[in-house]
Amino acid sequence: MVKSKELKPDVCYVGAIDWNRRLFDELVPLPDGTSYNSYLIKGSEKTALIDTVDLPMVDVLINNLTRLGIKNVDYVIANHAEQDHSGGLPQILKIYPEARVVATPKCKNMLMDLLAIPEDKFVTVKDRETLSLGNKTLEFIYAPWVHWPETMLTYLKEDKILFSCDLFGSHLASSDLYVRDEAMVYEAAKRYYAEIMMPFRTIIQKNLEKIKDLKVDIIAPSHGPMHNNPEFILNAYKHWVFDKLKNIVVVPYVSMHGSTKKMVDYFVGALIERDVTVKQFNLTNADIGKLAISLVDAATVVIGTSTVLTGAHPVVIYATYLVNALRPKLKFASVIGSYGWGSRAIEQLAGIISSLKLEILDTVLCKGVPKDEDFKSLDKLADSIVKKHKEAGCES
Ligand code: FEO
Repeated sequence: MVKSKELKPDVCYVGAIDWNRRLFDELVPLPDGTSYNSYLIKGSEKTALIDTVDLPMVDVLINNLTRLGIKNVDYVIANHAEQDHSGGLPQILKIYPEARVVATPKCKNMLMDLLAIPEDKFVTVKDRETLSLGNKTLEFIYAPWVHWPETMLTYLKEDKILFSCDLFGSHLASSDLYVRDEAMVYEAAKRYYAEIMMPFRTIIQKNLEKIKDLKVDIIAPSHGPMHNNPEFILNAYKHWVFDKLKNIVVVPYVSMHGSTKKMVDYFVGALIERDVTVKQFNLTNADIGKLAISLVDAATVVIGTSTVLTGAHPVVIYATYLVNALRPKLKFASVIGSYGWGSRAIEQLAGIISSLKLEILDTVLCKGVPKDEDFKSLDKLADSIVKKHKEAGCES
């Protein structure tokens, strides 16, 4: 059992650390596990639980509440309907039948759909509505699309704690209540942002604006350690969501017989000679999360592919689909690679990333092994990238 911990008087962490989970949504790698953070707030008149935990770990939450001697819960605040935070809700409502679920109207409907929670269990709240627990007051702040449409944040006014749901979180199993190793949490939070939040970057800009005047001592997200230095994570998010690009080229590739790899090796060398930072990923064994992190600041992606049945390699198609879905702030793209008798890989890959509205730079496809003219074309592509990055004002 995780030892329950106090953030401020009568505000306790009661969540669960999942040290062993290695995959989220059967897609997202979790190299460092995760946690499902739940918090108990005991006001002088009412008691509230902020979120629950993933269903397989609900016993940890129940044990933590039992250990604290909690006989009564008046409100369960559902900041987010996704099951890693709501999965334990039906059990909690069985143990505490008097509890009412406090949620946005959208979240209420989703919880009714996802978990069959009866409608009479809910109290819906408006944006900026407050709820008194006696000597403690909760304020509910709608923050849609971080990262579902129903999400809200809960602000505990007297203690200046912002319960931020997935926003500002990190998939990190840690015994630390608060961020202790900033470098480690920065990497985990950036991975989390890249995989979960980046598609909603422009909406997050608005949500950051909405909370900028809140006085916050602690940010308590629903995954990973809490932030008792909120500026650390707020500044990181400002960096990630706003539009500054870096002089970075991401090169994800697959090479079946070595020709595409020769091109990638040459091209990466050409970029390095030109002082461009390169993040290269052999997709046959790449950590997709690291690829996502690299896309947070990069200005350009150059996809390297072998040809399978006149199309791009299926693993490259999968990665390109992810790049498109993550909606990074990329500005430029190209495709390089090799084919045996014919290829429509360029049209195919450009079609997959069409919603990103990237400028497609010159592409380099060669028949068989790369020849002198192919290497010259790769040099030309590297020159073009340097020029485009300068024009776009990319930072080093
Ligand atoms: Fe951690 Fe969107 O759930």
